[in-house]
Parts: sequence; structure tokens; C-alpha cells
Amino acid sequence: MIVLAIETSCDETSCAVVHNGRVLSNVVSSQIALHQEYGGVVPELAAREHLGRIVPICESALCQADVELGDLDAVAATRGPGLPNALQVGFHTAQSLAFSLRKKFIGIHHHEAHLYSPWIQGDPLHVNWTEWRPSVSLIVSGGHTLLVRCTKEGKHEILGATVDDAAGECFDKVAKLLGLPYPGGPWIDRLAADGNPKSRRFPRPMLNDPNYNFSFSGLKTSVRYYLESQSNRLKERQFICDMCAGVQAAIVETLVTKSIRAAREYQMSLITLSGGVGANQGLRSEFHKQCSENQIDFRVAPNSLSGDNAAMVGVLAERRLQKKTNLKHEADLWDQDPRPSWPLSEMSQQTVQMRAQ
Ligand code: KG4
Ligand code: ZN
Repeated sequence: MIVLAIETSCDETSCAVVHNGRVLSNVVSSQIALHQEYGGVVPELAAREHLGRIVPICESALCQADVELGDLDAVAATRGPGLPNALQVGFHTAQSLAFSLRKKFIGIHHHEAHLYSPWIQGDPLHVNWTEWRPSVSLIVSGGHTLLVRCTKEGKHEILGATVDDAAGECFDKVAKLLGLPYPGGPWIDRLAADGNPKSRRFPRPMLNDPNYNFSFSGLKTSVRYYLESQSNRLKERQFICDMCAGVQAAIVETLVTKSIRAAREYQMSLITLSGGVGANQGLRSEFHKQCSENQIDFRVAPNSLSGDNAAMVGVLAERRLQKKTNLKHEADLWDQDPRPSWPLSEMSQQTVQMRAQ
């Protein structure tokens, strides 16, 4: 099966072509430069930019894959969650393309696509579904922090989530306080490598609470108060590096400790990590270390698929279409709209959901 997939849920315009589990192309065009001067994503600008880029990006994905429109079996797009107007662009482009080509169409849940992205590995990137096994999975991005228990393929239960800011949002807000460019996560990651994480201890909110929820807004506030008393040091590189290391250590400890605790409680021998923050070096190495100490396997999405991309959408879409022979398509799905707020919990009964629509 050959699937063309589109992702436009936030500030990346992406299109990929997937063929029998192999990623033939994955073109990602980031809008970071556009939003940087505003210190965050401006939804209207993001949508307008997606509109201008979507056709050339799709053409380039097809060209790199050496695939023509007529070769496609299906077209997929991220249906939600995400920025409403941004989602509309990719979703309706994919829908119109499928309609005009008389191909199957499928809308994919953005977090579910992240959830399966650690199973896409290798060069060239591909997925081997026979390798799939149950896991505790952490999805950490700019908008969400979710700890999920996956018991069967397509069946998952949310163990915990952030009660306020997402981990990526915390990275970005702290970076802004430190005068670093948007998005701040990768900057904090780089600068933390030269800092001392023990120079100041920041709070680990909810670390010892008997649940799997997270809270990061207090951490950001604590950084703000501390910086008010240290404003004369904001130009010292070492001070900024130490701050980055201290904040990163607090976020990493919270995420890793709760994931390991969940894996032990539910007797899971595998933890997976995905989402934009999954690219964080400190987070990856702490997971590697603590998983090995606890005899738990660890699997993380490849760096190129940590952030938003259409390859993960295409891989999941193809799997859905191949497995669910009763999946309705063509005319049945033409009246679907994007779902900007779409809880991941609904996706555990995907077949039921699709039939009901
Ligand atoms: O998954 P993603 O690309 O988009 C969303 O669905 O939100 O995640 C973007 C988030 C941003 O907050 C960004 O700062 C963060 O991921 N991020 C990082 C790193 N790379 C991206 N955070 C920490 N360390 C990184 N290396
Ligand atoms: Zn994402």
C-alpha cells in the first residue's frame, strides 16, 4: 500500500510517502523563523503559511519518493488535536486530494501518531510491526505531556497528564525568561550541557504524589522569582548554562521517575518516549540510565521523528487501513472535520469511532 500523509497541526508543514511500512520520503518545513519574532506560534500566521507551503511540500515528498499521484492507495492527514485553522489546511488538502483521486482517506490522531513513532527506526526509516510490544509510553511535546499504558496495539489507557503547562511549554517559557530564542527547548538542551545542574535546585512538582500527573507551571514561576533576584547575572553565560541545567534536571527527574514508577507498577518491561521534547539529550540519557538500572528496555523515536512530521502519520494510517478491513472510507469520510480538541482516550476504540462517524 502507498500512502501520502500530511501533518499541519502546529507550526510544521509536513508531507510523507509511506510504502509497506517504509518511509519513502518525509519532507518537514518548519515555520520557526516566522514565529520567532513573536516568541511563540501565532495561529493565524501558521495557517496562512501552511496554505502557501502545502502544495510544494506535497510535490516534493512525491518527487523524493519517486511516486506519482496515480500510484497512491490512500491519503492521510492529522485530524487533531492542534490549532484549528492550521489543521484545516492539511486535513482538507488531504481530503480533497483523496476525493479527486478516488482514493481512501483517513484522519489520524496526532498523539497516537507520536505514540507509535518509536517503532519507526533505521535508515531508511521503516516500521516492523511484529516487533511491537506492550509499553509504558511518555509523549512529551509543546502542548501535551501524557503518560500512557499500551497493552495491545491500538489499545491504550492514559495513566497521567499535565495538570497545567506541558513539559515543552515549560522549556519554552523558561527559555523566554532567560532571553533565549523560541522555541527554547533545544536551546536549554544545548546550554545545559555546559551548566551545573546542582548550582540551584528547582522544585520537582508532584514528584511524590501517588498518581501519574505532572505539573510544570510552578517550576516556571520559581525560575521567574529567582531571576528577579539575579537580574544582574542574566548576561553571564555560565549563569544561563547553570540555570538551563538546573531547570532541565527538574523536568527530566519528574518525567523519568514517574515513567519508571508506572512501568514497575504495571510490570511493563518497555518504556517508549516520543514528541518534540523526546529529542532532549538529558532526558534520553537519564531514561537510558534508569531503564538499564531497572531492567526495563527503552525505545525512543529517532531524532528526525521526535518533532512533528508526516512520516509518523503515514505509518499509522497505513497500519490502520491494512488492519481494519471494515474501516469505512471514500464517501463515508468526506463529511469529517478536523478535531482541534480530540482526547487520546477516544482512540482506544478506533474501529468503533470510525464506524460511528
Ligand atoms: O511535538 P512537537 O514538535 O510539537 C507539538 O506537538 O507541540 O514539540 C515541540 C516542543 C517545543 O516546546 C520545543 O521546545 C520542544 O518540543 N523541544 C525540546 C527539544 N526539541 C524540541 N525540548 C527540550 N529539548 C529539546 N532538544
Ligand atoms: Zn506533536
